[in-house]
Order: sequence, then structure tokens, then C-alpha cells
Amino acid sequence: MRAVELNGFGGPEVMEWTETVDPEVRPGEVLIEVIAAGVNRADVMQRRGFYPPPADASSVPGLECSGTIVALGDGVRDWRVGDRVCALLAGGGYAERVAVPATQVLPIPEGLDPVAAAGLPEVAVTVWSNLVMTAGLRSGELVLIHGGGGGIGTCAIQVAKRLGARVAVTAGSDEKLAKCAELGADLLINYKTQDFVAEVAAFDGADVILDNMGAKYLERNVEALAAHGRLVVIGMQGGVSGTLNLAALLGKWGTVHATNVRNRPRAGAGSKAELVAAVREQLWPMVAAGEVVPVISAELPVTEAGRAHELLDSPETFGKVVLRIRD
Ligand SMILES: NC(=O)c1ccc[n+]([C@@H]2O[C@H](COP(=O)([O-])OP(=O)(O)OC[C@H]3O[C@@H](n4cnc5c(N)ncnc54)[C@H](OP(=O)(O)O)[C@@H]3O)[C@@H](O)[C@H]2O)c1
Repeated sequence: MRAVELNGFGGPEVMEWTETVDPEVRPGEVLIEVIAAGVNRADVMQRRGFYPPPADASSVPGLECSGTIVALGDGVRDWRVGDRVCALLAGGGYAERVAVPATQVLPIPEGLDPVAAAGLPEVAVTVWSNLVMTAGLRSGELVLIHGGGGGIGTCAIQVAKRLGARVAVTAGSDEKLAKCAELGADLLINYKTQDFVAEVAAFDGADVILDNMGAKYLERNVEALAAHGRLVVIGMQGGVSGTLNLAALLGKWGTVHATNVRNRPRAGAGSKAELVAAVREQLWPMVAAGEVVPVISAELPVTEAGRAHELLDSPETFGKVVLRIRD
């Protein structure tokens, strides 16, 4: 098969669409013929050499895909050859075929474009596991979503609204904020011209904050929390180590969480299988009903994976970038 291989670490030019060995299908796995793959910041970090895949994962980038099941490993009973699916991967999505545990596969709901579906599994699992399973977001609460115009942000806005929360978002332009409002965001904060701490203080602070910035926002995020607030850090776009003001945190009975999806075990407590099962049971009906839709900013052929990585940092990109592997 062909896949994107990394010829060393560095810029987009280290990615090459080339012949490589087919994945082995182990017991409990299915083999997917890939239609499209979602592009994530983690892929860029892996390409640069800062985010190696877990030991048992493919070295090919790609944390999510859509496609058709073409083979079943021993013991797989819940899926059939020919099923149209999307899947959460530990790697290997930028390829013609990928093997994945059957427990990380989701059906593509009727009527959903299979290319767009490639951009859903990673964000759906990240958003649901952090907003609901970790932070326990409840109806009527105020959630602050940093990076509202990103792949995670565009999904998180829709999910939080369906849960009955009030949604505040940050973004770097008024154009992006207007699009966040179309998705349901109530409070729009341009982080270049406004102070998000002051903006949410007008509502007694945020009950939940979903943070993509890490160190850069840590102190201000704690300041922005309401009493009993929960800060969930999922990204480190603003650095890895910051100062945590414990006095400010304990005075609010607050909590700080930091989680990732990729390095979770395949099975057991807190595993990818558990998160995907929760998404399938609780979030997937919202997707099937068209209440939560994938927001796709750009669709490129896999031969333009380098351009797709560059688009992640473009101010024009709103939502996800996906790579088409086959028609
Ligand atoms: N922990 C996990 O398991 C997990 C899983 C998936 C993703 N992530 C992480 O979550 C973060 C978001 O992922 P994504 O897929 O949504 O990435 P993305 O699509 O690239 O979006 C990132 C967003 O960050 C915004 N941004 C840049 N500087 C900002 C600032 N100072 N304040 C607020 N927003 C800012 C950008 O928008 P502007 O143009 O508005 O600046 C952009 O929309 C990434 O850091 C990613 O690595 C973590």
C-alpha cells in the first residue's frame, strides 16, 4: 500500500507519499481501506520529532480516519466487511489501509459525508471525554472554550450547547468569532483585543474551561474559574510549564486536569475503548440527528499533506482539515 512516511523530522517536506508495507491485522482488530484522514496538531508535532507514536502504533501519522472495513481480525463480531466507518487511531491514518482495534471504530451515521466523517473521531472523543467525563459539564453552567475556531473548539461549542451550557469562546479574529456564534457560542472574546478573565468575571467566572494553550494561560485560567470551577488542559500551544497559584485555586475549591487521548491504553478503565463506547452511546445520536456536525475547513488530496499541515496555522482555517486518500 501507499502511505505518508516521514523521512526524518522537520518541515512539511519530510512527509512523502510512498510505497510501504501493509498493516498486520491482529486479533480484535479490523482493517480499514481509508477514504479520508483527519489532520491534527499532534501530527505536526510528530513530524517535527516532538511527539513519538506509542510503542505499539504505526509510525505513519494520522489519529483518525474514515473508510470501509475490508478484513476482520480473529474474535471480531461487532463489524462486517463492507461497513462504512470512522475510527480513532493511535497512528497510521495517512495511508491506504490501517488496522485498528474494533473497539475504536464508529459507524458513519446515515447521510454524513464519509470524507467529513474522517474529521470527527479525534475531536468527538476529546471533547466528550473532557467536557463530560472529566469536567462533568452540566446544563446552565458557563464553559469557556479557548480556540473556539479550531477543530476541537468547533465541536466543543456544539456539544456544550446540546448539553444546555452557556458557551464563551476565545479566538484571534472577529470573523472566526462570528462563525463560532453561528455554531451557538453566546459570549465571543477576541483574545487579541479583550481580556478573557474580565469577560467571564462579568458572569461570576467559568464553571468549566477547555484549554488549548497550557502554560501561557494557566494563571489567567485559574483566575477566570468560578467557585467549584474545573480547568481541563488538553493542549500546550502556549508551552508546557507554568505557575499554578494554589491559593487562588483552593480559595475557589477549583480543580485542574490535564489529559490526552493518544497514550491511553486500548482496553480497561480510562481506555480508548471506554471513551469511544461513551461517544457512541451519548454523542453519536447527536451526530446522527445532525445536531453536532463536523466543521470542515479544507479537504486536500493526501499528496498535499504538507500544505494541509501549513493550513492548521492559517488564520483562515475554521474547523478541521482533512486529507482525501481515495474517492
Ligand atoms: N489532549 C488531547 O487528547 C488532545 C486531542 C486533540 C487535540 N488536542 C490539542 O487541543 C488543541 C486544539 O486542537 P485542535 O485540533 O482544535 O487544533 P486547531 O484546529 O489547530 O486549533 C487550534 C486553535 O488555537 C487557536 N489559538 C491560537 N492561539 C490562541 C490563543 N492565544 N488563545 C486562544 N486560542 C488560540 C487558533 O485560532 P486563532 O486563529 O483564533 O488564533 C486555532 O483555531 C491543540 O493544542 C491540540 O494539540 C489535545
